[in-house]
Amino acid sequence: MVKVKRFSSMDDLYSHAVATIVEAKNNGATTFGLATGGTMEPLYAKICKTDIDFSHCISFNLDEYVGLEATHQQSYAYYMNKHLFNQKPFLASYLPDGLAVDPLVETARYEGLLQQYPLDFQLLGIGQNGHIGFNEPGTSFASLTHLVTLEESTRQANARFFSSIDEVPTQAYTMGIQSIMRAKCILLLAVGEAKREVLERLLASDYTEDVPATALSKHPNVMVLTDLQEEENKL
Ligand code: GLP
Repeated sequence: MVKVKRFSSMDDLYSHAVATIVEAKNNGATTFGLATGGTMEPLYAKICKTDIDFSHCISFNLDEYVGLEATHQQSYAYYMNKHLFNQKPFLASYLPDGLAVDPLVETARYEGLLQQYPLDFQLLGIGQNGHIGFNEPGTSFASLTHLVTLEESTRQANARFFSSIDEVPTQAYTMGIQSIMRAKCILLLAVGEAKREVLERLLASDYTEDVPATALSKHPNVMVLTDLQEEENKL
């Protein structure tokens, strides 16, 4: 059962997210799954203003574009350095390698690391089509780290970060749904009107591979934070 907390102030929402991470750390969490996207930028900015110390912790990112070097401004490696790691370094930080030569070797390497360092805490955003990480609709709930072909709608949603849609990669590496579900505790942020429909599907406890995030309804410890209020007079 997915729990939800609704906020009327974005500042309160992000403060609560920071407090949740601090609490997890205080309770002994040392391995953190991290996410990217516009939703996470204010969170990382807030974390950087605190005295949280991740220097004994390990981080794993959910996903990475195929074909972008870590120095490319739209790679998730670059994003993480810019928004978090430069100010808040971890003992070790792992991301899939977007330039890996052999996808099978790379996905096995990443999944192996995840199994070696089980995730205590996983941060998630959500795509408008219900993707988590880059697990697009139709992905098996049993999936491990794998190579994906991005949906056109996902490329369009992320085109705002690139100078044109043609520059948005067509493929990515992502943790699988099962890799994500193994995390002991999950915090999902759903921010902005564009996420309303998919949030409703998630909170309705649907369980369908058509909407990847609905896998979370079977996780014992998921909290969703949102700025979306319940719609009144819903027919
Ligand atoms: C990307 C990322 C996801 C993220 C989603 C939502 O596709 N791979 O991990 O949750 O977009 O991004 P945003 O927060 O910008 O809406």
